[in-house]
Amino acid sequence: MDKVQMALKQVKSDIKLKENLTFLLSVPSREEFKPVFEEADKICRKYYGNKVYIRGIIEFSNYCIKNCKYCGIRRENKKLKRYRLTPQEIIDAVLYMKKGGIMTTVLQSGEDPGYDKTLLQIIPKIKNEGVAVTISIGERQEKVYRQFKKAGADRFLMRIETTDPVLFSALHPDDNLNFRKKCLKNIKKMGFETGTGIMVGLPGQSMESIADDLLYFRRLKPAMIGIGPFLAHEDTPLKDFKNTDIFPTLKVVSLLRILLPKINIPATTAMGTIDKHGRQEALKVGANVIMPNFTPSDYRKMYKLYDDKICITENYGLCIGCTEAIAKAANKEVKKGVLGVSKAW
Ligand code: 5AD
Ligand code: SF4
Repeated sequence: MDKVQMALKQVKSDIKLKENLTFLLSVPSREEFKPVFEEADKICRKYYGNKVYIRGIIEFSNYCIKNCKYCGIRRENKKLKRYRLTPQEIIDAVLYMKKGGIMTTVLQSGEDPGYDKTLLQIIPKIKNEGVAVTISIGERQEKVYRQFKKAGADRFLMRIETTDPVLFSALHPDDNLNFRKKCLKNIKKMGFETGTGIMVGLPGQSMESIADDLLYFRRLKPAMIGIGPFLAHEDTPLKDFKNTDIFPTLKVVSLLRILLPKINIPATTAMGTIDKHGRQEALKVGANVIMPNFTPSDYRKMYKLYDDKICITENYGLCIGCTEAIAKAANKEVKKGVLGVSKAW
């Protein structure tokens, strides 16, 4: 048995996990990594068949009080025109989505607590349409999360980004890793179906620290984990750190599928940006969700988290067709309707 196969076998039996994960994350070629990709695809198909689940994302505000070093909508980016969708614009996007058979929405924004009151009023209206609501709005105090739960939000998405304390502090001048972890724990305890995730290829990120991220996910047991390659944005302090290869991200996707077999893993927009076949490749090695963009066209270019972000010129209708084509390219098909509550453990 070669070294990759041995490490894979040990990971599946929980033996020397960190050491084996670090080794597998460091495998230099796709050819050598193939047994891991194949195993991840097998597990994904065991639980999800050839189905790809859809969540329509609406980027409702690009205001942000934070200044994360990597992010194009950080508060110090003064070049950016800021916007907030009106409640009616959000509802219209949800109705459009529903017409296309997509029954679950992700409402995402910069960290914009100034919109909370409005959002709390919009959520029950969306729920009345029978559409499941995920919110991705960043850090708040526990009592605010409770208000969102009470308003009817079903799911909450907030990436940990990295669990490496040094890297986390270097990237997040306004944040504290322990508080972020506490928020995620609280969110989960409150009964939100919880999603989190990391970026891969951050400046200064080691394979060992990604192995630690994976072990953190095993402890948290979220329902969804989104992984995206880090991509530079020209108006941020990290503008010169180019990241051009999707392979490390695909390795993380497949290892996650093996470690947490039933979890939801999206093929993310950042994957499709770093590589034009990135999303279909992810669907072949363990991913089972796509999140097409339903932000009204005029606003999309203002929600540019990183350079060359795809799907900013298209309008909604195109995104449904494109999602179907991506699924097909991975020999899968789109499953519409509410994505069932999954148990990741
Ligand atoms: N490259 C890749 N992903 C990014 N995000 C923010 N900025 C970037 C970037 N430059 C991701 C973060 C955040 C999510 C909404 O977008 O992981 O959680
Ligand atoms: Fe704001 Fe989120 Fe970007 Fe940080 S990553 S600057 S919190 S939108």
